Amino acid sequence: MKHLLSTADLDWDQANALLDTAEQMAAVLTRPIKKIPALVGRTIVNLFFEDSTRTRNSFELAERRLSADSISVTARGSSVSKGESMRDTMQTLEAMKVDCFVIRHASSGALEQATGWTDAHLVNAGDGWHEHPTQALLDAFTLRRHFAAVGHPGLEGKHVAIVGDLLHSRVVRSNVWLLHTLGATVSLVAPATLRPAGVETWPVQVTEDLDSVLPQVHALMMLRVQRERMSGGFFPTAREYTEFFGLTPARLRLLSPRAAICHPGPINRGVEISAEAADSAQSLILDQVAAGVPVRMSVLFHLLSGADEGLK
Ligand code: NCD
Repeated sequence: MKHLLSTADLDWDQANALLDTAEQMAAVLTRPIKKIPALVGRTIVNLFFEDSTRTRNSFELAERRLSADSISVTARGSSVSKGESMRDTMQTLEAMKVDCFVIRHASSGALEQATGWTDAHLVNAGDGWHEHPTQALLDAFTLRRHFAAVGHPGLEGKHVAIVGDLLHSRVVRSNVWLLHTLGATVSLVAPATLRPAGVETWPVQVTEDLDSVLPQVHALMMLRVQRERMSGGFFPTAREYTEFFGLTPARLRLLSPRAAICHPGPINRGVEISAEAADSAQSLILDQVAAGVPVRMSVLFHLLSGADEGLK
């Protein structure tokens, strides 16, 4: 495996190998010294053209835990703010001998294009509305652990509903491909205005009726309403959105008490998810954040350690 651009590129074996290694990395993180020398001498650049809290910080920590040398470059504070193109920025940095770029960019497909500009490994940390593969991997890791803890291990046959702003979400695409590969059934719940073109060809069921889906699911994934990506009126008011698609305290009671609640964050409390749901015992939101470091360690290890002969 040279790059991680999309979860659609992962087969069952590759996805499980990444999740299994993430378990080993999580074990490292329980030790008093949370560091292994796996990537000594490798150089990683985190190139973030868009804002991020969880993703950037957990990549940085993952790189340090693996003993890689890494730097982070953001649009603000670099020559990107002077108009330097992504290509020139990457080639400038690559001249300093870089083994891997971790990139977040506002344009869908930016990473695909970048494969032609560099010999380094590329990891997609979110490209526009397209994909966010490490988020889907950390979601699968979190759910796998949850299902094992409640005595029903594995994702095969589990029903996961993803709810909300599907149109602007890179998280939904990566999750649909990965959950499908891992054998889960996926339902998507969204108003017609927030559904991506071509969704009818995806391996999912699509509905507008959240209340009918809630009692059936093993896990519910709420998505943020991405106001910064919206150009027009996709729904009348935030209040109306919450009424039909929000995980309100009343809707929480329609969910099985054993069903997991996930959200990639950042959350809009009171819009797509109520404080009661976000802070409930069923919520895995902080487990998802915690999973970010071992899952990203696993991805970087598989791409960069050279030990990964089986995962071409
Ligand atoms: C997501 C993102 O930026 O794609 N967040 C994340 O990485 N945890 C989802 C979002 O912004 O809503």
